[in-house]
Amino acid sequence: MSKGWYLAIALLVILAVVLALAVWQPSIPAADLAKRHSFSPELVERGKVLAGIGNCETCHTITADKPYAGGVEFPSPFGSLYSTNISPHPEDGIGRWPREAFVRAMREGVSREGAHLYPAFPYTHYKNITDEDLDALYAYFMTREPVAHTPPSNNLSFPFNLRFLQWGWKLLFFDPDPWQPDPGRSEQWNRGAYLAKGLGHCSACHTPRNFMQAEKKNRAYAGALVDNWYATALDESQPVPVHWDTDSLYQYLRSGTSNYHGVAVGSMGEVVHRGLRQAPDSDIRALASYMESLSADRRNTGNPRQLAAETITAAQQRAHSEHGAGEALYVSACASCHYNDPQHPLAARAELSLNSAVTADDPTNLLRVVIEGVGTGAGTPILVMPGFSTLSDENLVELADFLRRRSNLPPWKNLQQRIGELRELHRQSQHSATGKAGE
Ligand code: HEC
Ligand code: HEC
Ligand code: HEC
Repeated sequence: MSKGWYLAIALLVILAVVLALAVWQPSIPAADLAKRHSFSPELVERGKVLAGIGNCETCHTITADKPYAGGVEFPSPFGSLYSTNISPHPEDGIGRWPREAFVRAMREGVSREGAHLYPAFPYTHYKNITDEDLDALYAYFMTREPVAHTPPSNNLSFPFNLRFLQWGWKLLFFDPDPWQPDPGRSEQWNRGAYLAKGLGHCSACHTPRNFMQAEKKNRAYAGALVDNWYATALDESQPVPVHWDTDSLYQYLRSGTSNYHGVAVGSMGEVVHRGLRQAPDSDIRALASYMESLSADRRNTGNPRQLAAETITAAQQRAHSEHGAGEALYVSACASCHYNDPQHPLAARAELSLNSAVTADDPTNLLRVVIEGVGTGAGTPILVMPGFSTLSDENLVELADFLRRRSNLPPWKNLQQRIGELRELHRQSQHSATGKAGE
């Protein structure tokens, strides 16, 4: 062999070693089980509120009798990933993780054993959590009940099952530097930005992703389909007739309802009623302040109440001038509950010309609500809407088309296909006790 070949092979070997060293993360030795009384009750209590804002429960708990025991399925075209047991069980959970290992997982997406974690776990946002808040979260998780439960193994197809490839994903899409407060903004805004970008991981659902499942940075909050719910656009492209302002955002994030937009259903119902429920009012106001600034270039030009009244009146006039099948269905099946006085729209019976499920660019939320109804746990707690799964596909298309015309919006495409998919989802959720649909 010529000298050149030896050199080339030597270079390749060096490259492989460098790469292996970069990819490799050390295992952090297991510690003794943390003693419950070593954490102050105040710290644990603070951790509880933070765990709520972080929605840890939603992704790590299937049934209430096994809190934080993992096993929640994350399906993808390449197979399923399952969340892990994060109760302090010594073998099945994270009971023997020292604080250092917990912090590394939350900030770098690496398990105690040194394996790269998948970004379905939003460490890409949790990296922004401060040391103090991580201390409180650690204290909270170490003082839960240890639950013996091994989640199912992932069944991802090759090469997605190779964890070390996540290193490459991080190289391409993960910026490990934490978010820094903006000194030019108010304290309230900065608090809101910290919560939204960190624990609250709001953009994880509201931002569209690229084919590698990374959030598109240039389209932050432009709206995205996640888990068969459409997380509505909250940037300047939000198509709502009455623009979100700090008051309506506060009302919605606190109570799950907004008179000018409707109610929080599906995964947002979880965020509001489970996640943010225990967060103090000041945090909800801070979130509202930050979220409002995402669309600061498109504020309401008039008083929201007046805008709402004009929108409803125009929609009612357009509806009166129609005599098609969609209009007949709306009058017989929906209008008795959803009829609103233009001056006093009610979130609890969303006026459908103001409602985000109707004005969104994607029909998923409207179709799911009509097919499945709204249970007591979602939207306004206690209030229910019956499901209309008995309507034919044709009727659903007519109704959706009519509601779009009534709001003076272009028709949705591919309704027929989407209705088929959502009906199938509804059937499956009725057959499985752990189904996430229709919560
Ligand atoms: C959107 C869903 C989601 C949310 C919200 C979420 N997790 Fe997870 N988490 C996951 C998934 C999925 C995994 C498994 C990732 C993997 O196997 O690569 C995981 C893994 C982890 C791990 C690594 C455990 C191990 O054994 O390797 C820790 C620690 C963890 N989560 C803690 C938390 C905490 C604390 C919160 C709340 C602040 C939280 N998670 C919220 C989905 C989530
Ligand atoms: C797990 C996914 C998910 C996360 C995380 C999430 N959202 Fe949402 N969000 C949704 C979905 C889905 C909707 C649509 C719900 C509906 O129409 O009832 C929504 C709707 C909203 C709306 C109402 C928009 C409209 O026009 O109706 C606001 C405001 C909002 N989210 C704010 C937030 C904030 C603030 C956070 C972070 C604290 C957040 N979201 C985190 C999924 C999510
Ligand atoms: C029996 C009364 C009733 C009927 C009939 C009814 N709804 Fe509803 N609807 C409600 C209530 C109440 C809510 C709010 C539920 C909540 O807040 O938990 C609601 C919520 C909704 C939402 C959710 C809005 C959001 O903000 O995400 C949509 C969309 C909707 N209805 C559409 C329809 C359509 C279309 C029809 C006709 C096929 C219809 N409803 C028939 C009572 C009704």
